[in-house]
Amino acid sequence: MKAFKKYLAMILGAAMIFTLAACGGGADNSAETDDSSDSEAQVLRVVTEATFAPFESTDEDTGEIIGFDPDMMAAIAEDQGLTLEWINMEFDSLIPAVNSNQGDIICAGMNKLAGDRAQMADFGDTYFESDLMLLVKSDSDLSGIDAVTSDMKLASQIGTTGGDMVQEMKEEGKIADSVVLNQWTDCYLQLQNGEVQGVIVDKPVGEAYLKSHGDIAKFAGESFGDHEEFAFAVKKGNTELLDKLNAGLANIKASGKYEELVDKWFS
Ligand code: ARG
Repeated sequence: MKAFKKYLAMILGAAMIFTLAACGGGADNSAETDDSSDSEAQVLRVVTEATFAPFESTDEDTGEIIGFDPDMMAAIAEDQGLTLEWINMEFDSLIPAVNSNQGDIICAGMNKLAGDRAQMADFGDTYFESDLMLLVKSDSDLSGIDAVTSDMKLASQIGTTGGDMVQEMKEEGKIADSVVLNQWTDCYLQLQNGEVQGVIVDKPVGEAYLKSHGDIAKFAGESFGDHEEFAFAVKKGNTELLDKLNAGLANIKASGKYEELVDKWFS
């Protein structure tokens, strides 16, 4: 009799386990199914040029793109339920990239007021403002951009407002040569090696460089050029995505997250 009761208990226990698994598994599976559909959101490709610290640079240890722009876009993406990945490329490739569907969003400290950029891509609301400065070696006696002489060479990044300015100065005979390079790090090296007498750079980026190189370089004079308004950009006509990015920017400004990131990267 005892054996029969034990056998019956085993059968009932197995039946209960089977029943629970059947009910629980279904619910779990349906939950997973619902979740899995959420995780399939389109991955939006953010294109940038990552030698522009503290807006974007490459972490030497991980190779990850870090800076104010990635942090800001991550906060916007979280607010708007977007999924982002970052692609590093030359600055003057950024607008062609979104127009040829090689990228979805430009975020690169790009001045939306410069040249014909607004005709070539749709820019969002301003997320940072800046001016240009002249970086010189710490032993230079250059007083500012207006004191540059025609025997000098100036460097900046190709395709940027600074790069356009040094090329205009060369064409106007104000300097002996303009050195426009793909990476800001190479512009700084040209200055350090004495190959050029100055680098035209965005003020917050020059300030970040001087934090670590204040012993060998300095700013000469006051800011100059057109006041800049940095904005993200999308392919012409992609208003749905741009509206989301603008809404996210407004929301992170209202929540205090934007200011927190400014303190993190520019204090
Ligand atoms: N603000 C300047 C411009 O709009 C320089 C931007 C350079 N940005 C970069 N990620 N390299 O032309």
